[in-house]
Amino acid sequence: MYKIMSRETLVPNNHLFKIEAPAVARKACAGQFVVIMIDDKGERIPLTIADWDREEGSITIVFMEVGVTTRKLAQLKTGDSIANFIGPLGEPSHIEKFGTVVCVGGGVGVAPIFPIARALKEAGNKIISIIGTRSKDLLFWEDRVREVSDSLTVTTDDGSYGRKALVTEPLKELLEGAEKIDRVVAIGPAIMMKFCAKTTEPFAVPTTVSLNPIMVDGTGMCGCCRVEVGGETKFTCVDGPEFDGHLVDWDLLFARQRIYIDEEKHAMECACGEVASHG
Ligand code: FAD
Ligand code: FES
Ligand code: MG
Repeated sequence: MYKIMSRETLVPNNHLFKIEAPAVARKACAGQFVVIMIDDKGERIPLTIADWDREEGSITIVFMEVGVTTRKLAQLKTGDSIANFIGPLGEPSHIEKFGTVVCVGGGVGVAPIFPIARALKEAGNKIISIIGTRSKDLLFWEDRVREVSDSLTVTTDDGSYGRKALVTEPLKELLEGAEKIDRVVAIGPAIMMKFCAKTTEPFAVPTTVSLNPIMVDGTGMCGCCRVEVGGETKFTCVDGPEFDGHLVDWDLLFARQRIYIDEEKHAMECACGEVASHG
C-alpha cells in the first residue's frame, strides 16, 4: 500500500498528492509517469511525476478530476493509502544543453512542465516559460515555474489574469523575434500540444510533446497506448511519452482518446447514482 503523506487542492478540481513511494522516488526523472490503482477493483490510470523527494521517499502527483477514478482519488485524505503505484515508467525527458528552450504548459500540464523546465535549467539552458489556463482561478504553480525560468508569460483564455491569449500567441511572437529559439517543449491537453507543434513547424524548431493516450498496463504489453509518429507505430508508455510534435498523427490520437467515451459516461452516471443513493 502507498500512503498519502499530504494532499492539497491547488485550484478547483485539481489536486496535489504527495505519496510515500521510496523505490519510485529513488529512480524518478523528469518526464516519467506512474500508473496507479486506488484499490483492487479499481482501473489503472497513468499520472505524470510532477516532483519527487529522494530523501523523504515521496512522489508528487497533480491531477484533474475528469471521471470516476480521478474523482474517487480526490476523495482520499492524508493518511489513506492506494493499492498500487507503479513507476517510474516511460523514458525520461531528453535533457541536454540546447541553448534557449521555450517550455509551454497548459492547464494541468503546468505540473509536468515544471520538473522538465527545472532539469533543462540545471543543464545550462535559458528557459522561457509560457503557462496558460482558461481563467485565473485555474492557475497554479506560477511561483514554482517562475523560479526555474529566465522569463515567464502567463496567459488566460478570458483575460482574468496575465495576458488574454492562448499560449500559442506568445509562442509565435518568440519564434518571430530576434532571439534564436533552439527547442520547444509543450505539455497540456492534446489539442494545445497539436497547435503548439503547428506553430513551431514553419520555423523548424524541434518541438517535444508528451502524449496522453489511454493506457492500461503502462509496460508495452497491451498496445492500448499506440500512437503514430512519423508513420511508425509507437507505444507511448515505453517509447514515450515524449515525441517529436511535428511527426505525431494528432487525429489518430484524438480518436483513440475518445474510444471508451460511452463507457466512461456510463461509469460516471452509475457512480453519481451510487453517491445519490447513499447520501
Ligand atoms: P474517465 O471518465 O475514465 O476518462 C476521461 C478521459 O480521460 C477519457 O476520455 C480519456 O481520454 C482519458 N482516460 C481515461 N482513462 C485513461 C487511462 N487509463 N489512461 C489515460 N487516459 C485515460 N492527468 C492528470 O490530471 N495529471 C497528470 O499528471 C496526468 N498525466 C498523464 C500521463 C500520461 C502518460 C497519460 C497517458 C495520461 C495522463 N493524465 C494525467 C491523464 C489521466 O490519466 C486521465 O485523466 C485519467 O486516466 C482519467 O481517468 P478517469 O477515470 O477519472 O476519467
Ligand atoms: Fe499497454 Fe502502453 S499502456 S502498451
Ligand atoms: Mg476511468
